[in-house]
Amino acid sequence: MHMDRYERYWLIAVAITLAVFFSALVAGAVIYGVRLDDPTQIVNPAMVDQIGDFATLGPGVHVITREDGTTYKKIVILAQRWHFNAGGAELDENGKEIIHVTQGDEVQFVVASRDVTHGFLVQEHNINFELVPGQISSAKTIMNRPGQYAIVCHEYCGKEHQGMWMTIIVDPASESVSQNQE
Ligand code: CUA
Repeated sequence: MHMDRYERYWLIAVAITLAVFFSALVAGAVIYGVRLDDPTQIVNPAMVDQIGDFATLGPGVHVITREDGTTYKKIVILAQRWHFNAGGAELDENGKEIIHVTQGDEVQFVVASRDVTHGFLVQEHNINFELVPGQISSAKTIMNRPGQYAIVCHEYCGKEHQGMWMTIIVDPASESVSQNQE
């Protein structure tokens, strides 16, 4: 069978590329232990409000005390078309939720979707979830910079996707001290 020289080169190049990718896949699984998410955090999205932190604490900002007496803030949020439910304690003029933490707070976000896939991005912070229905997303960060930061849905989730956002305000540490003294 006649094969053009360049065609042969390309076939060899493609074969080498595929072999490299396949080796990387095998090496990742065998040597580095790369796995898909295990089902420990898999829940029924429609019933997620009856599970774990969503049931015991509910949406909102909660101060959690560890055994050694130190504290952190656990922020529990339910995502649902087209709204982030963070407890509803404070709303802005658009009806979007506002939550507060204090500068220097160690914060854990615990977030899940009740329906479809949503996004969860905290502006200017290293928190960025894809909220897959049936999974609980969680990550910790320290909020050191006072200011107002948007939390936006960045996965297209239907006709009001562009209006699915809320706000987290990091109050300056000194201000909260003076408030406590009043
Ligand atoms: Cu929720 Cu886009």
